[in-house]
Amino acid sequence: MSKQLILALSKGRILDETLPLLADAGIVPAEDLGKSRKLLFDTNLDAVKLVVIRATDVPTYVQLGAADLGVAGKDVLLEHGAEGLYEPLDLEIAKCKLMTAGIDGAKPARARRRVATKFVNVARRYYAEQGIQAEVIKLYGAMELAPLMNLADEIVDIVDTGNTLRANGMSPRELIAPISTRLVVNKAAMTMKHEQLKPLVARLAQAVERRR
Ligand code: ADP
Ligand code: PRP
Ligand code: MG
Repeated sequence: MSKQLILALSKGRILDETLPLLADAGIVPAEDLGKSRKLLFDTNLDAVKLVVIRATDVPTYVQLGAADLGVAGKDVLLEHGAEGLYEPLDLEIAKCKLMTAGIDGAKPARARRRVATKFVNVARRYYAEQGIQAEVIKLYGAMELAPLMNLADEIVDIVDTGNTLRANGMSPRELIAPISTRLVVNKAAMTMKHEQLKPLVARLAQAVERRR
């Protein structure tokens, strides 16, 4: 295993909040990530390289050791599963909630509830725990549309301000999990590259601490 560290970043809204945090921890990309079509970047540190990938791909890269560590939403981690991953640090960014939601005033009446979500594993687990029979329907976005179109009785999705739900005549129902962005580390790398990883994780922890 090379002593180089590959850090996988989630593109999208997490990236905007991750870069200032990395800078506070002394890690700065060698070029503007937003202006480049590249996916693999050098940083100011010889030993640290960045890959910028889809948020849902980060756990896969880190679990299989293609990246040594990564930055991913807890929602993505809950959906993916924690096998092969350590989660040493809550980065306390992109905070939101995973919730069930439905049309204002509508009661989830039918015996077998139809639930639209991109978080199918989380949803199946949640409804099973609640003893509620659910038919989980996989969608890739715009979950808030599903009940309006009578595709589903309820959704499982991210809620932050609640604006998206409100704008579509829906309201939050039950909290499934509070969400924030986490640092994840490949379990084998945690042992094999401990000497490089330990100070990096410590500097990130200090950067998080300074923001409190
Ligand atoms: P996607 O294209 O998969 O929706 P996003 O960039 O929108 O990716 O979201 C990435 C992560 O940011 C999510 O996995 C979640 O942890 C967090 N997140 C998503 N939506 C919100 C939101 N409205 N407010 C705060 N954090 C959010
Ligand atoms: C996310 C999420 C909700 C919305 C919640 O969507 O999927 O739709 O934010 O935030 P709110 O409670 O503040 O309205 P996003 O903006 O990421 O759009 P997407 O469908 O492209 O993921
Ligand atoms: Mg989104």
